[in-house]
Amino acid sequence: MCGIVGILGTEPVAAHLVDALKRLEYRGYDSAGVATLDHGKLGRRRAKGKLSALDKRLDQEPLPGNVGIGHTRWATHGRPTEDNAHPHATDRVAVVHNGIIENFRELREKLIAEGCKFTSETDTEVVAHLVTQELKRGKTPMEAVSASLKQLRGAFALAFLFAGEDDLLIGARRGSPLAIGYGRGEMYLGSDAIALAPFTDTVSYLEDGDWVVLTRKTVQVRDANDKLVERPTIKSMASAMLVDKGNHKHFMAKEIHEQPEVVGHTLAHYIDMVHERVALPSEMPFDWKKLKRLSISACGTAFYAGLVAKYWFERFAKLPVEIDIASEFRYRDAPLEEGDLAIFISQSGETADTLASLRYAKEHKLHVLSVVNVPTSTIARDSDVVMPTLAGPEIGVASTKAFTCQLAVLACLAIAAGRARGELSEADEQKLVHALIEVPRLMTQALTLEPQIEKLAVELSKTRDVLYLGRGTSFPIALEGALKLKEISYIHAEGYAAGELKHGPIALIDEKMPVIVIAPHDRVFDKTVSNMQEVAARGGRIILVTDPKGSQESTIDSAHTLTLPEMASTVTPLVYAVPVQLMAYHTAAVIGTDVDQPRNLAKSVTVE
Ligand code: AGP
Repeated sequence: MCGIVGILGTEPVAAHLVDALKRLEYRGYDSAGVATLDHGKLGRRRAKGKLSALDKRLDQEPLPGNVGIGHTRWATHGRPTEDNAHPHATDRVAVVHNGIIENFRELREKLIAEGCKFTSETDTEVVAHLVTQELKRGKTPMEAVSASLKQLRGAFALAFLFAGEDDLLIGARRGSPLAIGYGRGEMYLGSDAIALAPFTDTVSYLEDGDWVVLTRKTVQVRDANDKLVERPTIKSMASAMLVDKGNHKHFMAKEIHEQPEVVGHTLAHYIDMVHERVALPSEMPFDWKKLKRLSISACGTAFYAGLVAKYWFERFAKLPVEIDIASEFRYRDAPLEEGDLAIFISQSGETADTLASLRYAKEHKLHVLSVVNVPTSTIARDSDVVMPTLAGPEIGVASTKAFTCQLAVLACLAIAAGRARGELSEADEQKLVHALIEVPRLMTQALTLEPQIEKLAVELSKTRDVLYLGRGTSFPIALEGALKLKEISYIHAEGYAAGELKHGPIALIDEKMPVIVIAPHDRVFDKTVSNMQEVAARGGRIILVTDPKGSQESTIDSAHTLTLPEMASTVTPLVYAVPVQLMAYHTAAVIGTDVDQPRNLAKSVTVE
């Protein structure tokens, strides 16, 4: 994750930009930079390392100007060097960026063919040249940004500064957050309200696809179709706390919506985006080829992430996997072999059952690798290798963004294992990695189902029992959907392997029982359709979560169909998690339970 900020000010802005960036350092800080306009001319100062290095640079070479943009970077494309630090600029445009431009390579080739000279390895620099080329074709800054946005694919937030335009800032949001700050005769842009707290507490949040044209006196927000839209202003609480709900009613809602950004950030930590291959952040103290078996152990939602990973490790790396609920793992006297690998997955890194299992595995001389969201946690400290999820603080008790970040890390690990064990070719790896790089954009599209899910939630809120069905890697998503619903709405819900329905649970089916079927059009889709026919024949109300092909081919008269975009079958667990999270959230919101702190639960269960 990176942090971006923009100030359309009435006094010199460089120091204010750095102040705002300091409040965004939690988003990453391997390099930083600012750009300002002084008498219409673009000036830039950038520095490798923490913001203090940029501070020092500005002391040595002050940067005048009352309008500017700034960026604190967490490297995705290209090493953390000064050349790769933002803002990226031509002589006419400076831009700062948070997120991933998926199609930057083809755009870069096109721009080089047009004579553009690149000075960095980043995807962001492509945007600066793209807009500049549009300006050279006679477009206004606004028209140039609009035309450029239409050529970009991915999940990102952007802020632009134009030479000669000292009363203009343009921002754009697609998947990564961007807030507008309203000042007295000044206007601001920021990755979140935290960055803007020193200047204003009156903010509004762009929605996905929005872009905004700011002057010191006007704000014009347009949607993805360039239609003028209104976005409400709110009073931000950010000045009081370092993590706030943004414009969401609950932390859980905010965290569901953060997924395109934080999953993109996590993937960038494990993938060489330029060459589209896995690049794990640390060496493994074992040889994947010598492993005879992999043991995975976790609790709750983290366990379901492990269940998905079992399919991936066995399919990509032909590595046999045994998976256990952590509280069961050490009581079944599993025959463990010294030198094998045990993976422990935990958002908090403090779950007692998982920690106890980790220590049991260590006693049996297994290599221990943990996938955690808190790198300073006890589980992390007790591990031989830590693979961090970069979800940021997860406040809602019901785990959402940590889950999909866990899946992102586990997918990269399984691909790395497949390559190391000679089961995946370089081409296989590139195909799988390319599919992962598309996930932030696909999640952004999945979030657009929210209005339809809000309506569906009203019906679900009136039920007492719900069944979730899925096959293959959709089976753990069915389990996760059921857990989400029951833990925050208190409605009883069960997840089942779709093929298992006829072996008992079908006795539950009647017109009062909603059955949520997670069924992308993959190789088991037809089998799942016949399970749905069994449900429909007994009057069950089906809610089908599928893709366009699945929706077209399903002959079932489903009560509701949620249609997600077409995608590689490898990544369906990450993207199909979004609608099941939203279903649980909106159902609980209709009922009025305490969504962020449901009864009887704790965010981290530190007792066995
Ligand atoms: C998930 O929504 C629940 N809050 C719970 O099942 C949780 O996943 C489980 O307690 C494990 O927590 P951890 O990931 O912090 O280890």
